[in-house]
Amino acid sequence: MTKTACSREARSEKPLSVTTLADMKRRGEKITCLTAYDASFSTLLDRAGVDVILVGDSLGMVIQGHSNTLSVTMDRMVYHTRCVVRGRQRAFVIADLPFMSYPEPNRAAENAARLLREGQAQMVKLEGGRIRAETVRHLVSQGIPVCGHLGLLPQSVHQLGGYRVQGKDRQAAEAMLEDARILQDAGAALLVLECVPAALAKKITQSLAIPTIGIGAGVDCDGQVLVLYDMLDITPGKRPKFSKNFMAETEDALAAVRAFVEAVRTGRFPTEEHSF
Ligand code: KIV
Repeated sequence: MTKTACSREARSEKPLSVTTLADMKRRGEKITCLTAYDASFSTLLDRAGVDVILVGDSLGMVIQGHSNTLSVTMDRMVYHTRCVVRGRQRAFVIADLPFMSYPEPNRAAENAARLLREGQAQMVKLEGGRIRAETVRHLVSQGIPVCGHLGLLPQSVHQLGGYRVQGKDRQAAEAMLEDARILQDAGAALLVLECVPAALAKKITQSLAIPTIGIGAGVDCDGQVLVLYDMLDITPGKRPKFSKNFMAETEDALAAVRAFVEAVRTGRFPTEEHSF
């Protein structure tokens, strides 16, 4: 274990909260995030010092073997969230609202409440920009912390025509920056940026008070997230450009996750090789 990873683990065993994450952005401390879907990996991530565990609807692909996330149901999200929460002590847990579980504010509130009450998540994540503003405002008014998600929206894969980098031309970039501000103004406390040009993600990060967590969005986001099975080299098929095989230099999953934490905290991941 490296010195930094060690001191980090020793420094804070206190469970993280939404305010800790905001403080980390203010202090310029990088936020580390990985996905998990079960108690064993949740415990391992916690031991490695990962700050945030995302129970992503990517489970539809890496656990269930589908080619996209659209088949994931609320019941499955509640089940996997509950498993993850049981495994961790310190990490902050975010759960995805799956496809079509938030078509309007009241349905969103009912389903988000299930993720918090039955799943015991601390925050819910939903995809989309300004069209979600009313929903975000409603959830926040009910005391439900919200993480937005801009850029590549996997739940809209058929509309986007595939898994592609978003915000490449000026108009799309300006629209994404505006969407980010709208989500923040609606009360979102965190924002995932997926497959966004690094320069645009930097601009969005600098213009928001809330932390951004990037995946394929360059090194200047306030934090980084990867799909656990991609970075452990378990996912079958080709690894996405923005991910990295952290098992390449170790045969130990805990050491690989610690290497990710260390690389993100010191700004050594992602590099240009993993960015757009
Ligand atoms: O579902 C998921 O794992 C996600 C990440 C890719 C950010 O939303």
